Amino acid sequence: MKKGLRSRLAQYGDEEFALFLRRGFLKGAGFTDDALDRPIVGILSTASDFNPCHKTAPQVAEAVSRGVRAAGALPFVFPTVSLHEAFSFPTSMLLRNLMAMDVEEMIKTLPLDAVVLIGGCDKTIPAELMGAISADMPAIVVNVGSMLAGRHEGVRLGACTDCRRLWASYRAGSLEGPDLDRAHDQLMPTSGTCMVMGTASTMAVLAETLGFMLPGTASAPAVSSDRWRFAEATGKRAAEMAKTGGPRPSELLTKAALRNASVVLQAISGSTNALVHLAAIAGRAGIAYDLKELDDVGRSTPVLLDLKPAGNNFMEDFHAAGGLPTLWRRLKSHLDLSAKTVSGETIGDVIARWPGYVDDKVIRPLDNPLTPSEAIAILTGNLAPGGAAIKLAAATPALFQHEGPAVVFDSLEDLEKRVDDPALNVTPESVMVLRNAGPIGAPGMPEAGALPIPKKLGSKGLKDIVRMSDARMSGTAFGTVVLHVSPEAAAGGPLALVRDGDTIKLDVRGRRIDMKVDDAELARRRAQWKPPALPARGYLRLYSERVTQAENGCDFDFLSGLK
Ligand code: FES
Repeated sequence: MKKGLRSRLAQYGDEEFALFLRRGFLKGAGFTDDALDRPIVGILSTASDFNPCHKTAPQVAEAVSRGVRAAGALPFVFPTVSLHEAFSFPTSMLLRNLMAMDVEEMIKTLPLDAVVLIGGCDKTIPAELMGAISADMPAIVVNVGSMLAGRHEGVRLGACTDCRRLWASYRAGSLEGPDLDRAHDQLMPTSGTCMVMGTASTMAVLAETLGFMLPGTASAPAVSSDRWRFAEATGKRAAEMAKTGGPRPSELLTKAALRNASVVLQAISGSTNALVHLAAIAGRAGIAYDLKELDDVGRSTPVLLDLKPAGNNFMEDFHAAGGLPTLWRRLKSHLDLSAKTVSGETIGDVIARWPGYVDDKVIRPLDNPLTPSEAIAILTGNLAPGGAAIKLAAATPALFQHEGPAVVFDSLEDLEKRVDDPALNVTPESVMVLRNAGPIGAPGMPEAGALPIPKKLGSKGLKDIVRMSDARMSGTAFGTVVLHVSPEAAAGGPLALVRDGDTIKLDVRGRRIDMKVDDAELARRRAQWKPPALPARGYLRLYSERVTQAENGCDFDFLSGLK
């Protein structure tokens, strides 16, 4: 296979001319022949003024380039789609597959021998991994790193767990506008990704666990010197990979690596969004992500990482406590230590060489966990034949076994219009149901699953109520919230048939979510159901026609490697 500038030449029917032209343009940009004969490392940058989480991406790319050059290869930085949670209408999830296509196609079209993927904000690392796995080019991830925690009137604050907490207090009338404004300035005090165990931190930790990052990289803060050193070391390793041609993603993404990811996801009490992303990532390698295995390992995996929203600390504390390899060491008996990492070592090798220091307050010992088990559980039942998820670590144990009447919202617009209506027939015993907010229905499966507590209940101090939907939930949110109900309502799932007042039973112990409506009545309702109209054109049309359900990762069926 041709390497460096000789690879993937534009097709003019004359390869030597194509190379002559390509080199000519680069000579025009000031490159010497010596530089142009070296292996090439592409550095995929997600810098964008619309992505404040990635404000330091150019500096990360610069440090990676330094490492690439020091190791004798030639770095080229190139852009892709960049997604920020708060700058993506209607939701960044809608565009994750577009970014994954961009990543895959750019990797396949450019003359690269290896690629460094700079990611961070929630959907970026999943999209990068999906694209790189499909391209099967030697690839290594470096995240931009997390923000430092904020400080406000003696309290440490973190995006976005405290954004939600403060906003809920403001909605309930217990926090005045000027107080909210002052706290607002400290919620995101530096650049970087959200510094709690939200989706960005979860996916960085899982990318490292899957073997795609140099060990220790995930937890380094965005504005730390460690961040630049990891970036430089990533560039150096990428240059070696460009020379040797491996490891390729297909060598790293095995069933053992995915099981390890499930163990770590439970032990960090990570974001439920990871279930959808892991399914999509695994699907690109033709592996069906095993949700049953995730539930099984959860029953015996303690939550060891004491980070918000489940605990008290922040990513910078995780880093100072020893970082991910220290957590792996604590979980040694739960992990497959033979799984490979991009460094060339196995997880077991990394554990053996990693410094022994650990801060027990942040990375808890097995005999003193934050919670003994079951951070995330998978449910089935007549409401979710394809499965549903619940983050028990962020829920109210008193609601784990619950029966109550449904209060149904037909769409996000309906929810917004009626949730604070004083006439809404809702009590603390109700089960709030949101539908048509799934992959096809919204479309894009927005993070709307943590429905707001209706004002009439919140103002009386109610903090939690059972909620269920075909939507997702932010990793920084909390509540007794059943998510990812599949099949979704817009695909004709049973969620479409629920009516106000139906009794819904949540049975966490039995891992079920059911509605108590007899089959004849359900058949009557089904006969009246009509599928929603699909968007008329463009990417939205493609998305709605070809997106898969949550258990298959919401990837496009024609991109997934699943048969
Ligand atoms: Fe970018 Fe939270 S919004 S990581």
